[in-house]
Amino acid sequence: MLLEPAVNALVDRKFGLKGKRKGTEAEPGALAEGVYVDGTFGRGGHSRLLLTRLAKSARLVVFDKDPEAIAVAEELQREDERVVVVHGGFGSMPEQLREQGIERVNGVMLDLGISSPQIDDASRGFSFMREGPLDMRMDTSSGLTAAQWLAEVSLEELREVIAHYGEERFAFQIAKAVIARRESRPLRTTLDLAELVASVVRTREKGQHPATRTFQAIRIHLNQELEELALALAAVLKVLAPGGRLSVISFHSLEDRMVKQCIAAAARPAAVHARLPIPEKDMPQPILTSLGRVLPTEEESKDNVRARSAVLRVAERTHTPLPPDQGASFVTAMKLVARGAQPARKGRK
Ligand SMILES: C[S@@+](CC[C@H](N)C(=O)[O-])C[C@H]1O[C@@H](n2cnc3c(N)ncnc32)[C@H](O)[C@@H]1O
Repeated sequence: MLLEPAVNALVDRKFGLKGKRKGTEAEPGALAEGVYVDGTFGRGGHSRLLLTRLAKSARLVVFDKDPEAIAVAEELQREDERVVVVHGGFGSMPEQLREQGIERVNGVMLDLGISSPQIDDASRGFSFMREGPLDMRMDTSSGLTAAQWLAEVSLEELREVIAHYGEERFAFQIAKAVIARRESRPLRTTLDLAELVASVVRTREKGQHPATRTFQAIRIHLNQELEELALALAAVLKVLAPGGRLSVISFHSLEDRMVKQCIAAAARPAAVHARLPIPEKDMPQPILTSLGRVLPTEEESKDNVRARSAVLRVAERTHTPLPPDQGASFVTAMKLVARGAQPARKGRK
């Protein structure tokens, strides 16, 4: 979903211009030159479309944490030598690009969250509808599984994660039930957890499984999704070439808020620095220009429940050089935004 506008946003110079329906039409003509990043390769739908819009000399660096997504990306790399594959989080973009000898890029695309293949494969543990091991890691080669984390997390940390990332009203009751249950039997499978949550969530939202919010919260926490996003947004300010574009699809309100605040802070730095004793003439100039927001079409929302919460935001790097601190103040601002979006860390039990 939002496939065409997310790709057009990177390569169509007219994207976002008033009077034109944003991103719905591909601009005929020249293929784009330069270096592009797809931070969330998945199965490569966005990357493949972007490649059709790129010149022969262009490069596309694709990231994914998931080894299965990387296997698909490597197949694509064998077919198309413009593709460079990185197994890792998009938060490590600056270091990974440096390793490839790349200093500046012309576009960065992120399609946040998990992919359909990840949800559909019961063995990944993301689905509360399918029996499978309670895993939920995007990168199955490292980190704690959900079962391991739930076996040792404290009541307070679990409550905060579920309340904050899941925006779940019954977070305390769910956390208490998990702690009580693990005293007798560990939670091993997705249905163990889904049934336990369903037994304590008393009011059900229309069309939503009672464990939806809890699964979402645990997944965001385990995969450090908001921390990675904060790192990537700060990195984008440094790596985007003047005129380069950022195109981000979010599904979660916390993610969308971070993207929106980052773009706003970089587009109106004077507002961010207003309370500092800086003379008007020395106020930092805009580093990004917002090119607006695109929502899914009615048809997309009808066909796909997930599409209903999707938002695409697009911004363009201005020609203003980064301030002498190399954007450190924006990096700090982004870290604060990310921290505001995270529950406070509490000691483990
Ligand atoms: C919504 S899917 C992307 C789908 C993709 N646009 C496509 O067309 O197939 C998100 C993908 O990004 C990956 N992902 C999510 N967060 C990531 C991160 N911080 N770093 C790298 N990959 C990430 C997930 O493993 C998943 O494969």
